[in-house]
Amino acid sequence: MNDKIKEYFKNPRNLEVMADATVMGQGGDPGCGDYIELYLKIEKDIIIKASAMVAGCPYAIATTSAFTEMITNQSLDDAMMISGDRVVSLLGDLPEEKIHCSLMGPEALRNAAHNYIMARICTPG
Ligand code: FES
Repeated sequence: MNDKIKEYFKNPRNLEVMADATVMGQGGDPGCGDYIELYLKIEKDIIIKASAMVAGCPYAIATTSAFTEMITNQSLDDAMMISGDRVVSLLGDLPEEKIHCSLMGPEALRNAAHNYIMARICTPG
């Protein structure tokens, strides 16, 4: 584990339940059983705050923590363009068998965006 990943694991950013979140999305890997919940506070389609809860390995904690920072202050559309590869690039090399840990944030974001759009479509008025 490189120093940057170690630092994000030991001092994770934004790992908390967000009580006033606009929307929540879930991501997980059935292969290892790890799971995250991603909370977003959205105003005018901009993610003004992101946080997550992670039930997973140190790499899942580090990559999800970095992902919450990367999507903060991004439009929902731009945040959706941030792939697991970009998370890996930010943190440096991940062992091959841990690459999937970096995919849960983007998956949870897609799920949250789906929930956000559905809530807007289905909310009367
Ligand atoms: Fe499965 Fe890290 S998320 S081992």
